[in-house]
Amino acid sequence: MKTSVCIIGGGPSGLMLSQLLHLKGIDTVVLERQSREYVLGRIRAGVLEHGFAELMREAQCGERMDREGEIHEGFFIAHDGRMDRVDLHKYSGGSSVVVYGQTELTRDLYDARDRMKGIVIHNAEDVQPHELTSKTPYVTYRKGDEIVRIDCDYVIGADGFHGVSRKAIPKNVLREYEKVYPFGWLGVLSRTKPVSPELIYARHERGFALCSLRSQVLSRYYIQVPLSDKVEDWSDEAFWAELKRRLPAEVGARMITGASIEKSIAPLRSFVAEPMRWGNLFLAGDAAHIVPPTGARGLNSAASDIYYLYHAMVAHYQRGDDSGLEGYSAKALARVWKAQRFSWWMTMLLHTFPDSIEYDRKLQDTDLAYLFSSEAAQRSLAENYVGLPF
Ligand code: APR
Ligand code: PHB
Repeated sequence: MKTSVCIIGGGPSGLMLSQLLHLKGIDTVVLERQSREYVLGRIRAGVLEHGFAELMREAQCGERMDREGEIHEGFFIAHDGRMDRVDLHKYSGGSSVVVYGQTELTRDLYDARDRMKGIVIHNAEDVQPHELTSKTPYVTYRKGDEIVRIDCDYVIGADGFHGVSRKAIPKNVLREYEKVYPFGWLGVLSRTKPVSPELIYARHERGFALCSLRSQVLSRYYIQVPLSDKVEDWSDEAFWAELKRRLPAEVGARMITGASIEKSIAPLRSFVAEPMRWGNLFLAGDAAHIVPPTGARGLNSAASDIYYLYHAMVAHYQRGDDSGLEGYSAKALARVWKAQRFSWWMTMLLHTFPDSIEYDRKLQDTDLAYLFSSEAAQRSLAENYVGLPF
């Protein structure tokens, strides 16, 4: 097989890039290790920054998002028994975020790829990029007994944190920066009316909690748990009781509970790999960086990678201009690190750390007190939460 751009990974990053390039007449093939059912069965976060929503529209995939997604102009931080609201709209110069499940967004991207007869190969095993520093790189994969070779100009590594692409960069070239947090988030999805029309991030001495939603009939809640906890340790009843304890009493009192339809524990990690380009391999999204979910930056960090790569590829194929490809790694990393900083800050501000000393807790108190006493601090939070410009 032959294509211009071979994309490894059929998550939001790979699909979005494939769709955008297709609309500009640039040929792609997407290789995905899992089945489509598996990819669409994963429950992921649900907040899209303004810039990502714009990219969905540019990719001609924004119709259902605009119809079913909710625009949120603020959220709450609950602490010390009270709720303070962050006015995103006011402090970001009129911007907002869209609450729309990443699973739904992935479905929309697959539908668009199907409509345009894009090539997405599922259940591709043993995917491996080759000859990445030559002018003629290629990717191989196995389907049953057959080995298939795809010749291409460029390879995109959009295969998430556990993918093969990053591993193809030699150890003496690749630098990895990692911070693992000493807790995870236990998440529950339930078919219940959300306790609040806007998200509530709660800081509590028993641990962090988050009230989020997918729609007005589908709620998503999280609580901070020790890494040693297993999902089986948490009955629905125990989860709801603990969630309520960490929220202001009046919020807990009006919480509608119900059976969980999904329950899982995710560890919290910050991670960046540098550089994001090696020869003709370009990393994008979770393959190159991970943030803890506290600032809702996961997908949004991927968005700027896709935006830069998209424009760089179009400049290359349409105008023979390679400056975007040359500058990709440095440009992408500059924004990636800002999302890292913000996610780390939100995580440090709102979680209870097992090894923290009283001094640390005093600083957390002061950070929160400063935030809600300073317009400048709220402006900084708002501009990061709605997404820094690409
Ligand atoms: N070969 C082919 N595909 C692979 C391989 C492989 N060796 N390894 C992983 N994949 C696939 C995974 O099955 C997955 O569908 O690559 C895809 C990567 O998708 P994501 O993990 O969703 O990563 P990305 O598309 O960058 O999306 C980033 O997803 O994890 C969230 O918080 C994150 O919101 C962010 C978003
Ligand atoms: C979610 O709805 O899953 C969600 C929302 C906001 C976050 C993290 C997760 O910061």
